[in-house]
Amino acid sequence: MSISPDWVLEALEERRKQALFRHTVIMEGAQVPSIEIDKNAYLAFCSNDYLGLSNHPNMVKAMHESALTYGVGSGASHLVNGHNREHQSLEEELADWLGYDRVMLFSTGYMANLGVIAAFAGKDNAVVQDKLNHASLIDGAQLAGAKMRRYLHSDLMSAQKILSGFTKDQTKSTILATDGIFSMDGDRAPLAGLASLCKQNSALLLVDDAHGLACCGKTGRGSMEIEGVTPDEVPLLVGTFGKAFGTAGAFVACSHDFADYLTQFSRPYIYTTAMSPAIVGATRASLNIIKSDEGLMLRQKLAANIAYFRQAVSALPIELCESETAIQPILVGDSELALSLSESLKTSGIWCTAIRPPTVPKGGARLRITFSAQHSFDQISHLVNSLTLALATRT
Ligand SMILES: Cc1ncc(COP(=O)(O)O)c(C=O)c1O
Repeated sequence: MSISPDWVLEALEERRKQALFRHTVIMEGAQVPSIEIDKNAYLAFCSNDYLGLSNHPNMVKAMHESALTYGVGSGASHLVNGHNREHQSLEEELADWLGYDRVMLFSTGYMANLGVIAAFAGKDNAVVQDKLNHASLIDGAQLAGAKMRRYLHSDLMSAQKILSGFTKDQTKSTILATDGIFSMDGDRAPLAGLASLCKQNSALLLVDDAHGLACCGKTGRGSMEIEGVTPDEVPLLVGTFGKAFGTAGAFVACSHDFADYLTQFSRPYIYTTAMSPAIVGATRASLNIIKSDEGLMLRQKLAANIAYFRQAVSALPIELCESETAIQPILVGDSELALSLSESLKTSGIWCTAIRPPTVPKGGARLRITFSAQHSFDQISHLVNSLTLALATRT
């Protein structure tokens, strides 16, 4: 291959020097707690498959059946002829479950956030965002060329101050966007307070509940269920299938008018191939599990695992986040230290990737430990013992 330009090599070297260089690793087999990487066995504590549905037999079977009927590829975008009966059924089932008029499928959560923000925002209006929002929400506002201001994390006073400065002299509504459950910290946004701020300031609230849906709330309806807010208060809800749903893809739930609007103006919806119908079939099976007694049981087991872990590490010299969710990060700060803790856990057979800037703010490196309903208490005890050892021998 041709020689790479100096500026590429320099950028790579800079990342290496800062202990921020990233690369993929190859995992053998399915996403389960016991994994194999480089011929070594590990217990994984970093997956987003919070309910352990990603290889559930009902879903594997549904995917196969759906592929037999509809094929593997959709073959076109939704607005050409890639939107088949399977897509329509999933949209209707999700809308019915969540209490929204309509649901629209997107190929990924990243694209759903770009697609919604870039359609609803532009140079004529502002997007107000939590400081810790997911990159895709931030990128959406940048893509839209909108004025963007970020308020202090989950701070209603800070959000109000920024909102009140923006709501005048705009032809379109201000958008206030927040994660429902923050992806790197695991805490929940104050949705009830944000909903009332949006009402007072005539802003539209957009909640990305990628990490809340299916695994938070008694029925799995996520942060909105826990916070007691309604679809009227959250006119735009984004959900993803790549996490607790155990498949891939995403959706936006909204009113009829908003869905019609997105259908005309959301470029990441219009100019892309519709989700694979086989994955849509698997996602419908996943939704059935999430709604069933089995789903409830999995959420209860996940909650028990989280409580078991928090209790077991209470005596360790670590900083946990205020999180009741499957995301239980251990804040480390320094990127090199986070890497060395992650390496040291590997020697005990634990796989937990260090998360470093720019995914988290500078100085915010961490071990993002996540739990699944499939972890056993014994496996969690092994994690805690390994953590104790890694912390005692940290350099
Ligand atoms: C809060 C949040 N929103 C959106 C996304 C993107 O979803 P997807 O992986 O489906 O692109 C992620 C994670 O990847 C996320 O954590």
